[in-house]
Parts: sequence; C-alpha cells; structure tokens
Amino acid sequence: MEVPESELVITDPVLVDDWHPVVACDELARRRLVAARLLGEDIVVWQAAGRPLAWQDLCVHRGTRLSLGRVEGATLQCRYHGWVYGADGQCVRIPARPDAPPPRKARVKTYRAVACHGLVWVSLGEPARDPPPFPEWDQSAFRKLLCGPYAVAASGPRIVENFLDVAHFPFVHEDILGTPERPEIADYRAVITERGVEATGMRVYQPDPYGTGTGDWVSYTYRALRPLTAYLLDIRFAQAQIRHFAELQRASLHDVEEETLPGVILGQATSRWARSAATCRAASTR
Ligand code: FES
Ligand SMILES: [Fe+2]
Repeated sequence: MEVPESELVITDPVLVDDWHPVVACDELARRRLVAARLLGEDIVVWQAAGRPLAWQDLCVHRGTRLSLGRVEGATLQCRYHGWVYGADGQCVRIPARPDAPPPRKARVKTYRAVACHGLVWVSLGEPARDPPPFPEWDQSAFRKLLCGPYAVAASGPRIVENFLDVAHFPFVHEDILGTPERPEIADYRAVITERGVEATGMRVYQPDPYGTGTGDWVSYTYRALRPLTAYLLDIRFAQAQIRHFAELQRASLHDVEEETLPGVILGQATSRWARSAATCRAASTR
C-alpha cells in the first residue's frame, strides 16, 4: 500500500519534542551548510557567529532548498533568486528589489538547535529538557571519540534495547565481552530517576578485560535517558575501580518513509525500520 505524502512526517510528540543529533559540530564547521532529514522534515543546518541553526529546508519565495544556497557571514542566501536570510530566519534582502524592504512574512520556519557533546542537536518541537547529559564528555581525563553514524537494519528502540542488554555478551561477543562458561547475571539495582531508568552494578564476567590473559568482573551502569538515547559507564574492578569508559548512544530514525509503513502501524517490529545510531564515546586515558 502506498503511503500518502502527507502521512510521511512523524508527529509523535515524544519524538517531536525531543532533541535529535543531526551532524557533528566539526563537520558543520567544515561544510558550513548541511542538509538533513529529521522525522520526515527536510532541514538545513548551518551556523552564524558560531551558533548552530536549523531551518526548514525551504525558501519561502519559490520553494527552493536552502541547503543549495550559500552562507555569507551571518546570512544564508538562496541559490535561485538570491534572497538573503538573517540568522533569525527573516529575509533581509531581495536582490531584484534592492530598494524595497522584504515583507515581514518573508521568513523561514526555524527550529531549535544546540551544540552539545560534539554534535548539533535539533528539536522540531518544544523540548522540556536539554539534550541528554554526558558528563564524561567534559572531563579532561577522558579521550573523546565521536563514532558513526552507522546504518543498522533494525528499529531505533531495538538498537537501544541491545545496547542495554548484557546477557547476550557471552554468546554474541564470546571471549571478548563475556564467556559461555560464566553467563550468569547477578541481581542488580534499577531505579527510575528524573533522567530515566538507571541500572547500577550490572556485573558481567569477562575473560580478558585488561589484555593480561586474566578474567575479571566488570560492572556496568546503564541509563535509559530517553526512548532512543542510552548511556553506559564501564567500571573495571582489578584496576582500583577505575572508570574505564563511558558511552552515549543515540539511535536515529533515519528513513521516515520506512518508519511510517504499515509495519509500525500494526505494531510489528520489523527490519523495515532501517536506522542509524550515533555514538559518542569517552574513554579514560588513566
Ligand atoms: S526561490 Fe529562493 S530566492 Fe527565489
Ligand atoms: Fe552486542
């Protein structure tokens, strides 16, 4: 069944009012202008005075994609007839009418954008909170790695579920993150906090966590911060309980056309939800 164009945009407020990473800050600085698709909405991301901006990718004159345009200082110029927009989305110059002030309604639809953890996060709605916390990202003792995005043929929630699941370690990650000889997972503590569900002290036996040939118990703290955002803190015992690394993983709804196909409407978790996951990782240098 063909899905009408009008139904291709995701309107779930849980997602619309959330923050979504769309591009790495470094990449935006290099390219200056990036086209992205978020929950079915085409957006253009650019920056003025070092501040990221996210707009609907649509010139209000004749509907040209603004991502085809060019950044000039703190303005964005449409490629078609050269209309120039200021950082607030208001058209400030119409080259064909240089002496007439642009009409007030000549304004692009703007969205919220913020730089955080090396990524530009965009919200199409009214977010109730900041992007998910990742305290290790700001600590000098940690080395920062921005990974991905990786295309995964699975649903966003499934990707997060897998990230929070240690019981598969001995079998899927045999002899690396676990071993089939010690598959047991002891009881651990899970609480609901203001920032989501937090599970502490999830102990997993790993055959060689230090590269010394000796096995040890590793303790994980997991936080399900948002429906599509999860956090992991890894603590290794033999090295005086050093915080070894922390990771923030964010699954993105990559292709809305697949997202809104009947599989979702019927509640089927099918591989039609092709997704990508952006991962920030802070690895301790100590
Ligand atoms: S379509 Fe953008 S200036 Fe005409
Ligand atoms: Fe895994």
